[in-house]
Amino acid sequence: MSISKAVNKNVTQNTVEKRLQIQRLLGTTQIVASSTGNDVVKGLTQTPKSLPPCYFYDDCGSELFEQICDLPEYYLTRTETKILQQYASEIANITGACELVELGSGSSTKTRILLDAYQQLGYPLHYLPIDVCAGMLESSAKQLLGDYPLLQVYALAGTYELALAQLLPTQLPSRMICFVGSSLGNLTPSECDVFFSQITKALQVGEYFLLGIDLRKPKQILEPAYNDSQAVTAAFNLNMLEHLNQRFEGNFDTTQFEHWAFYNESEHQIEMHLRSVRSQIVELRALNLKVNFALGETILTEISRKFDLNTIKQQLTAQGLLPLHVWTDPNQWFGLLLCQLQA
Ligand code: AVJ
Repeated sequence: MSISKAVNKNVTQNTVEKRLQIQRLLGTTQIVASSTGNDVVKGLTQTPKSLPPCYFYDDCGSELFEQICDLPEYYLTRTETKILQQYASEIANITGACELVELGSGSSTKTRILLDAYQQLGYPLHYLPIDVCAGMLESSAKQLLGDYPLLQVYALAGTYELALAQLLPTQLPSRMICFVGSSLGNLTPSECDVFFSQITKALQVGEYFLLGIDLRKPKQILEPAYNDSQAVTAAFNLNMLEHLNQRFEGNFDTTQFEHWAFYNESEHQIEMHLRSVRSQIVELRALNLKVNFALGETILTEISRKFDLNTIKQQLTAQGLLPLHVWTDPNQWFGLLLCQLQA
């Protein structure tokens, strides 16, 4: 490498460091509910057994999720990306300059579409990704900073709840909290209400909430999206057990569980379970927990609710989040809602 190139590289790296702040949040909620694994104990001692979906996302699980997004059967990411590409500049025109807060940012691929739109209008770019996976947060922030020379990133590693409660006032005229990818589907209706109130508390009147949701459709389309032919979703589901093994000194044998996903039509939700293929006892030493599994017994690892646009619009409105615009794809498979906090 020539001297001038080496110098240039250092300059870029310096500025990347200057434009990046990562904060790891370790509030009481996390210590109580997550780090000590009380949520795991609770879920595995209940009948039927369940585990919180946040345990999917260790480094390996986040990587597997990225692979899911590219699967031919997993229409969600592709469909939402197209909607965003089509309407990002419209969104930027409506909101004006604003700070982008993203919940569950992952690899931030969809974020780039929004950043491009704000950049094109000449707005300053302030991005606040929030993710439980600190590794993914750091690597994707660095890639973004390399590609957007004027971008400022303030990354928060932690749960949404914790991060939303700790947001500082934005330096820009407005703020938009982005919750795309239909992760809202992981929440039960009552958890949804709690979540929306956390959103409204984190926003000022007039600020924005961008929500992407997967819509109801025939189960012939839904079920393959969660039972892909390459079994990446199965690996993603089983990886939760590996994650628990590492985190809580567990001895789950992933060959003794199998992936099971189906569409529960009356609840309008995909359910993902792990099914014990024999009767067995699993120990999580750090949690001082022994768990009995009967042959065929299941652990519910995720619900992925499929929404009706009118119902969700009413629910948002009732919470003071007025849907200003709703965009969908030609099949109406996915919805993108831009909401504004009312006085
Ligand atoms: C990230 C919660 C939106 O529910 O489709 C993908 C997670 N689970 N395949 C979804 C997931 C199985 C995903 N969300």
